[in-house]
Amino acid sequence: LREKYLSAVADVTDEAALEEIRLAALGKKGEISLKMRELGKMTPEERQTTGKALNVLKDEIDAALRAKKAALADAALDARLREEWLDVTLPGRPRRQGTIHPVSQVMDEVTAIFADMGFAVAEGPQIEDDWHNFDALNIAPEHPARQEHDTFFMHRDEGDDRPPHVLRTHTSPVQIRAMLEQGAPIRVIAPGRVYRMDMDQTHTPMFHQVEGLAIGRDISMANLKWVLEEFCKAFFEVEGVELRFRASHFPFTEPSAEVDIRCSWEGGSLKIGEGDDWMEILGSGMVHPKVLEAAGIDPNEWQGFAFGIGIDRLAMLKYGIPDLRAFFESDLRWLKHYGFSA
Ligand code: PHE
Repeated sequence: LREKYLSAVADVTDEAALEEIRLAALGKKGEISLKMRELGKMTPEERQTTGKALNVLKDEIDAALRAKKAALADAALDARLREEWLDVTLPGRPRRQGTIHPVSQVMDEVTAIFADMGFAVAEGPQIEDDWHNFDALNIAPEHPARQEHDTFFMHRDEGDDRPPHVLRTHTSPVQIRAMLEQGAPIRVIAPGRVYRMDMDQTHTPMFHQVEGLAIGRDISMANLKWVLEEFCKAFFEVEGVELRFRASHFPFTEPSAEVDIRCSWEGGSLKIGEGDDWMEILGSGMVHPKVLEAAGIDPNEWQGFAFGIGIDRLAMLKYGIPDLRAFFESDLRWLKHYGFSA
């Protein structure tokens, strides 16, 4: 019996089989246990010797079982350690880090510069209704500016006669929303995406503008000029920026001006503040009384200026990026070249 169990324990290679041996020998119905039970039928002398021998045998098998169990656990741990070994001295796998898109970078710069001048950030939806995008800005339904805007219209079901929503064609509807929400006085900028059906080297169907709006009791065109000059100095990081205010027309401002910046394109590289070229960067003017009225502000008491700057234009100018379309092609090599580290 001793031989049988000890060699079985020695041969076993997994814990489940070991447990079977334990049950077969020492379990309630195990061979040794049954023999123990037979002791009662023996004579006292027989019982003494057999009982002693059985106890010794039981202890011996028990000890062998325990030792084997510990050995199996050790072996399992060793195997796991071998399996899960890793070389901590190997060089790490490089993680590719992204960069900040030039448009995001410029938006942040522009927002920071205007924040220093006391402008808060306002927001509006990119899917805009016809009233905010046009009517409230004094662009009546038959106004030619509606055609000039190359508007994307949202689909309406057949028989639904309400005017369709549009993808906003400029950030100017945010002027209306901000004035309706906050009233006067107000000083906000609204950076964001705008959409027009247009595509060439300097136009993409989606692009970015930052709207500016300042309404007070006596805000004038002179304030507009100062704010824009300060902005350009800070943004292009040159003291001698020269701006040219060119009379223009927008339905929502009167008078209106487009603003050009003096620059030179010598040898294909752009320099701001010198040379004989002028580059248009924004539209602006004094907010039209009808616009104030539409936004619930009394034009006899309040007045102010508004402007709309092309952000992508600014990024092209400041960072010398020649083709606007590349901005939105998501080419990682381009982003790596023109992007900014976080
Ligand atoms: N909304 C005009 C545009 O998209 C720009 C503009 C804004 C002009 C504010 C005047 C005042 O072209």
